[in-house]
Amino acid sequence: MTEQPPGLAAADLYTDEFAADPYPALARLRRDAPVCPVSSPRFDSYLITRFDDASAALTDPRLSKDLYGPGRQYLRIFGPNSEGLNKNMLNADPPEHSRLRRLVSQAFAPRRIEALRPRVQRIVDDLLDKIVPLGQAELMRDFAIPLPMTVICELLGVPVADHDRVLEWTQVIRTSGSSRRPPEQERAAVQEAQAWLHGYLADLVRAKRARPDDAMVSALIEACDSGGKLSEAELVTTTFLLLFAGHQTTADFLGNAVVALLTHPAQLALLRADPELLPAAVEELLRFDGPLPVASPRIATEDLDLRGVRVPAGSIVGVALNAANHDPAQFVDPDRLDLRRERGPHLGFGHGVHYCLGVSLARMEARIAIGSLLRRLPGLRLGVPVDRLRRLPAASPFRGLLELPVRFTL
Ligand code: HEM
Repeated sequence: MTEQPPGLAAADLYTDEFAADPYPALARLRRDAPVCPVSSPRFDSYLITRFDDASAALTDPRLSKDLYGPGRQYLRIFGPNSEGLNKNMLNADPPEHSRLRRLVSQAFAPRRIEALRPRVQRIVDDLLDKIVPLGQAELMRDFAIPLPMTVICELLGVPVADHDRVLEWTQVIRTSGSSRRPPEQERAAVQEAQAWLHGYLADLVRAKRARPDDAMVSALIEACDSGGKLSEAELVTTTFLLLFAGHQTTADFLGNAVVALLTHPAQLALLRADPELLPAAVEELLRFDGPLPVASPRIATEDLDLRGVRVPAGSIVGVALNAANHDPAQFVDPDRLDLRRERGPHLGFGHGVHYCLGVSLARMEARIAIGSLLRRLPGLRLGVPVDRLRRLPAASPFRGLLELPVRFTL
C-alpha cells in the first residue's frame, strides 16, 4: 500500500464556488487522488470518485451500511437519539436489510407505480394551473417540492390537512446549514424537526392502527401485526425513510434538471421538439447533475487497500456518485449535457442492494413533471442569472436549490 495521499480539508472543498459548480474540483480529485481522505463539517471520510471504483464499492461486502450494529457507527454520522428515524433499511446490511426492504418493495414495483400515473399527472396539472396565469414562479416552492411531497404523502396515507406541517419540518432538515445561524442553532433546529417528525409519525401509525385505510402505512401495520415482520419502531423508521427519500431527492433533481435545461438552450430545443426524448433526457439530466452527490456513508469493516490507499477499519467511506457520473473513462465528454447520449449505466440511483427502491416512481414523476412544465410554460427562462441562484450549502448531503425563480410568456 502507498502512503496516505494528502487529505482535503473542508475549507478546500466545501466552498461557495464548489456549491455553484463542484465538477472541476471533483475532476481534479478523480485524476489525482481517486480515493481521498476528506474532512467535512459533518465527519471525516474517504471519498471515492472514479466510476469503476464507485461501482465496486457499492457492492463490496467489506463496506457495511449497518450503522446501528455493534460498532454503533451512527453516533459519528447522525449523533445520539437518531434510532427513532434512521434505523431503517438504508442503514442496515443483509439479512436485516432484505427483511426490511422486502416488506415495501411490492408497493414500488413498476406495475403498481404505473397505476399512479393519472394521479401524478393530476397533481402536476393542478400545481401548474396555479402558476400559469402568473408569468413567473419560484419553482422549488411552487412545483418541485410540493409535487413529490404530495405524491409520497398520498402513497403513505398522510392526511391532506397535515401535508403543510410535514413539509415544513422536512424542509428544516433539507435546508440545514443554509442559514446564517451558528452551527449549534442549526443542529438544534434539525433535532427539533426530527423530534417533531418522530412524534408525528408515531401518532400516524397509532391512528392508522385504529382506523386502517388502503394506503401504505396501513399495509405495513398489517405486515407487522400478522407475524411481527416489522417491529413498532421499524414501522416509524420505514415510514420516515419513504417520506424523506420519496420527496427530497426528486425535488432537488427537478430543480437541477430545470436549471440544466435552461442553461443549455440547444438541448432544451431538442427536447421541446421531440418529447419522445423525455425518458433518455431524465437519465442524462440525472447523470449530469444528480441530487445525491455522495451515497449514504459506508463503513470499512476491515483494513482496506483502495487504489493503494490504506483505509483503516472503522473509516467512513463516501462514494461520490456525481463524480463517478462525470468520469471520462466511462462517459465520452462527460461534462457535456447530451440528451441523445448513448445510454450507459449511471450511478444516479445507486447500485447494489441499496439501489433506489423508488426508481420507477422517481422516473415517472420526473418525466411527467418536466414534460408538462415545458408544454405549459412557453418561453420558460431563469428569473435571475444562474450564478445568483441560491443553493444548498456545499457541505449539505444534497445538491439542490433553495429557490428557483423563473419567468415565462403569458
Ligand atoms: C430522482 C429521484 C431519486 C434519486 C436520484 C434517488 C437516488 C437514490 C440513491 C442513489 C439511493 C442509494 C443510496 C445509497 O446506496 O447510499 C437511493 C435509495 C433509496 N431510495 Fe431513492 N432516489 C430518488 C427517488 C426516490 C423515491 C421517489 C423514493 C420513494 C420512496 C425513493 C426511495 C428510496 C429508498 C427507500 C432507498 C433505500 C433503499 C435501500 O436501502 O435498499 N427514492 N435512492
